Amino acid sequence: MVEVRVPATSANIGPGFDCLGVALNLYNRFYIEESEEGLFIDGCEESYKNEKNLVYVAMRRCFERIGSEGRQRGIRINFDSDIPISRGLGSSAACILGGVLAANEIGKGNLSKDEILEIASEIEGHPDNIAPALFGGMTVSVKDEDRVYYEKIRFPQSLKFCAVIPDFKLSTKDSRAVLPDNIPYKDGVYNVGRVSLLIAALSNGNFELLRLACKDRLHETYRGSLIGNYNEIVGECSRLNSLCVFLSGAGPTIMAVLKEEDTDFCRQMEAFLSKFKSKWVVKELKSDSYGALVANT
Ligand code: HSE
Repeated sequence: MVEVRVPATSANIGPGFDCLGVALNLYNRFYIEESEEGLFIDGCEESYKNEKNLVYVAMRRCFERIGSEGRQRGIRINFDSDIPISRGLGSSAACILGGVLAANEIGKGNLSKDEILEIASEIEGHPDNIAPALFGGMTVSVKDEDRVYYEKIRFPQSLKFCAVIPDFKLSTKDSRAVLPDNIPYKDGVYNVGRVSLLIAALSNGNFELLRLACKDRLHETYRGSLIGNYNEIVGECSRLNSLCVFLSGAGPTIMAVLKEEDTDFCRQMEAFLSKFKSKWVVKELKSDSYGALVANT
């Protein structure tokens, strides 16, 4: 039996659209083994218990890559998931990595982490959730031609997150559909400056710059309109003195960054959210430094 644990991730981090991401200490665990025949999936919604399951699709893709596609045996997959689905917290990246890492282990593929990053990013379509989920910490990742290039940056341990998560889903497909084909030149310049400042400020510990550095003009304004009460919640995060606030991945989760010693924010945010019709929950999280782990038991 192979056990794979993959962290949740928050992609984009404000201005870093499709390139920045950070791993979080919230996990999906996948228990996977070969069986005599057939596909058995347990621990997830009924609608995912079939051959279109992302973990299984990723396994097949990895078996093809390592030359084990002719394996005659069946597969048994058990989910133990804490990452909410379609909330902008990297649940699909976690499933894809779970499948690729398990198949590599079962098929004795000996793929390097860079090769795993490439296969998983190809399935996901962009690397910004896959890279931090695989390597942990914060990552910058870009695709050039067919290759994915990345750098891992240590996320400051003196910071934490408050994830504000609604009870409704938002698919990445729908959230990408509202983005424009073209943006004004000045919006590109706006984001280039801020994403550079964000990385410098995090590296140097100049956290008072984060609020300015986290501003974005490439996706948040367009997507905010899909999320009920978005502007009010973002406004309240700032009023309660978060260091910065951004849309987590494609949304709808809204993420506030806090100093470790801020003990009031989540409680006050919870009280604020109780007035809305949609149910929102808050989850205090830290960054995960290790990324995905594989154990053969
Ligand atoms: N960078 C992606 C997006 C993350 O914002 O659409 C979603 O998975």
